Amino acid sequence: MIMALINWDDSLSVKINSIDDQHKKLIAMINDFYDGISKRSGQESVLKLILEMKNYTVVHFTNEEKIMRQVNYPDFDSHKKLHENFIAKVVELETKIKSGKLVISLEITTFLKDWLKNHIMVIDKKYSDYFMRKGIN
Ligand code: FEO
Repeated sequence: MIMALINWDDSLSVKINSIDDQHKKLIAMINDFYDGISKRSGQESVLKLILEMKNYTVVHFTNEEKIMRQVNYPDFDSHKKLHENFIAKVVELETKIKSGKLVISLEITTFLKDWLKNHIMVIDKKYSDYFMRKGIN
């Protein structure tokens, strides 16, 4: 059995259950993607996994931004910008893969995993206390 690329543990918790659940789902999607690559599944099926992950990432970012707006989160603009940059990067990867300029590789998986992990641990965690004080859970 192939090991997961990334495991969710408390170090990734932002202490808001609804958001932790979404992050867990994103991590599971990255692991599925890694699994697909490790098993050398076809380019097309792995590309489908990237698309699914991107779509769910958009859902998650939209949800997080909605909460930020709701509670007047002070770092809203810079946080949203990071979300936008990431989606733009994923779209770029997708376009390159589709046009044959880039081959799906472990490097891409590592990039997605590292970005997400870093974003949750460094950027998302900044809103934990603020959201909790505003009664978000
Ligand atoms: Fe959980 Fe800012 O993404």
